[in-house]
Amino acid sequence: MALQAVKGMYDILPDRMRKFEHVDNLFKYFLELYGYELTKTPIVEYTKVFQKDNDTSDMVTKEMFTFTMNHKDSLTLRPEGTAGIIRSFIQNKLYSGELPVKLGYIGEMFRYERPQKGRQRQFTQLGIEALGEKNPLLDAEVIALGYSFVKTLGLKAISVCINTLGDNSSRMAYRQALKAYFEQYRDLLCLDCQNRLDKNPLRILDCKIDHDKEFMANAPKISDYLSAEAKAYFDAVLAGLDLLNIPYVIDESLVRGLDYYTDTVFEVKSTHEASGAQSTIFGGGRYDSLVEEMGGPDMSGIGFAIGEERLILLGEAEGIFEEEKPSLDVYVIDLLASDPYVLKVATALRNNGYKTEVNYKKRSLKAQFKSAERFKARFIAIIGEDERNDMTVTLKDSLDKSQVILRFDELLEYLDEKIGD
Ligand code: HAM
Repeated sequence: MALQAVKGMYDILPDRMRKFEHVDNLFKYFLELYGYELTKTPIVEYTKVFQKDNDTSDMVTKEMFTFTMNHKDSLTLRPEGTAGIIRSFIQNKLYSGELPVKLGYIGEMFRYERPQKGRQRQFTQLGIEALGEKNPLLDAEVIALGYSFVKTLGLKAISVCINTLGDNSSRMAYRQALKAYFEQYRDLLCLDCQNRLDKNPLRILDCKIDHDKEFMANAPKISDYLSAEAKAYFDAVLAGLDLLNIPYVIDESLVRGLDYYTDTVFEVKSTHEASGAQSTIFGGGRYDSLVEEMGGPDMSGIGFAIGEERLILLGEAEGIFEEEKPSLDVYVIDLLASDPYVLKVATALRNNGYKTEVNYKKRSLKAQFKSAERFKARFIAIIGEDERNDMTVTLKDSLDKSQVILRFDELLEYLDEKIGD
């Protein structure tokens, strides 16, 4: 059988790659607008960067690509960006400078999940983390960045869901209430949730298997267990969003799939009919203890990550991308079948910033003109024996169909006048 890509991992062919580049560029622009700097951490980390004691998330317990090197080091392909960024923040002592430290990243993540539309085993995240400041206005600003980015990209059918998981004391009280509640239904819970009941009952709310069971609807709500401080914090985040005219829905069942969140959590979903089961474009939230748990100072952070493949799928469904290939400035027709003069002309054009294509194969003039058309070249430079001998180029303008013969040293000046800036 012919060789295949690994299950759940896909090639990004040029037509799609253009969309990725478009999305990346806009994301980088938004990073600059909001004062975030791009950073890059390794794709592989020591497993313990992701695996904290008592972690109960599916991502860490079931979905990691983990392997052992040299019979000793356990390494993992990163399933998400936050943990690596924090490891780097601590290792490079970034906390000793101006706070908050605002970092952005674009990179591949790996999760051993069941592949389906919008869910892959290798996928790309666009993310940010703001580390070293806890302020509800910053939470609102982080959501605003993601929301405006997705809107500016052109997605219309989106909805922001937000919730709070409270501070440590709220969550402790809530956990106990959940434990007492679900204990009554222990036998009806799936095996994983029976385990979660002992370790982290909050995770039960996020279970894909038990999600629709009847007793779920009456489970205790976090809002009844929030400390006055946590409630005031959440209200201030919501006021920030109101101020920025960002529409949101408070979703008390939103707990997020990772264990590190405290206070604000949010997800931005597509409401487009094409979004299907994987409608969450991005998710994030605040984490008060993660930096310290990973060996750093007692500092809070907040961030989000956008699934780029999902974003592009939804963008395609909403028709936000231009399908056109970018056009060429000059297509060079080589009638001499690989004469060095042709390469010299093409190189001079490229060195001066003109997007140029040339095909050295021996082909008929008709076939060459067809290629020039396919590339949507503005100018066609024809080089045959006469042109080579006289060091000239016959240049055809595909807009007005005019044709001129130019000396090699006149060519650039002529183009500068016609299309240069
Ligand atoms: P997450 O919700 O696990 O959060 O992932 C963020 C986004 O990545 C999801 O909303 C989804 O769009 C995309 N995604 C996740 N898994 C897959 C997959 N298997 N295939 C395709 N796309 C996927 C995090 O990763 C957190 N680190 C976000 C964060 C940053 N929280 C604070 N800072």
